[in-house]
Amino acid sequence: MQLNEKAPIRSEEAILEVKDVSKIYARKWAALQNVSLQVNRGEFVLLVGSCGAGKTTLIRLITREESPTAGTIRVVGEDVSSLGRKAIPYLRRRLGLVFQGGKLLGDRSIFENIAFTLRVTGAKKREISKKAMTALTLVGLAHKAGCLPSQLSGGEQQRAAIARALVNKPVLLLADEPTGNLDPDASQEVLDLLAKINRFGTAILLATHDTNLVSGLPYRRIEIANGQIA
Ligand SMILES: Nc1ncnc2c1ncn2[C@@H]1O[C@H](COP(=O)(O)OP(=O)(O)OP(=O)(O)O)[C@@H](O)[C@H]1O
Ligand SMILES: [Mg+2]
Repeated sequence: MQLNEKAPIRSEEAILEVKDVSKIYARKWAALQNVSLQVNRGEFVLLVGSCGAGKTTLIRLITREESPTAGTIRVVGEDVSSLGRKAIPYLRRRLGLVFQGGKLLGDRSIFENIAFTLRVTGAKKREISKKAMTALTLVGLAHKAGCLPSQLSGGEQQRAAIARALVNKPVLLLADEPTGNLDPDASQEVLDLLAKINRFGTAILLATHDTNLVSGLPYRRIEIANGQIA
């Protein structure tokens, strides 16, 4: 069982391997066709494609919210299709997930949102506060720990969501349109934050349809169109 926190990771190892993956919804619509890609340890990869190209579908397959119709997906060498129900939380714990709009729990403070994630993944009580505040400091929001999401700007909410995604020290951060509803300045802040996190060693797969936003970035870019890698 490799998908636990203590599993060693060799450098140059593929963190994510997607091989010949297809996803057909309702037996007729191929949302993905023979998709293969790889993300290595510490890499920052852009997955770029227009609306309906299949980006979110791919991410949902990686997190085992959906299963592929064909092909294999490995996270840290382990075939996610072979994971039993009990192993799926461990898979998700090794993946940090960030979505459009942050999706924070609206009735809890920013601190509590992060503490909640730590609690459900079994962190020790005395570690929770320290880990949550470390993550909030990293994203520049320690001073807003007690605020509700509605008391933060869209960009701050997204940074809080990134802090939440980082608390379990994921090997791979999956960001699906993380700047989707943000203005250009806030979008840039989120990109800068992701770059910083990547420099600390976390691999990132950033899915977006916004080609302008990512046009100048120095990262490997994978184009997806109509469910196929272009
Ligand atoms: N649960 C589902 N059932 C049926 N079809 C689906 C389902 N989820 C996605 N699809 C279809 O699969 C295709 C790919 O959708 P997907 O959400 O992966 O695209 P996307 O690249 O994330 O697009 P966007 O940029 O708009 O977020 C679309 O045609 C979509 O309608
Ligand atoms: Mg999408």
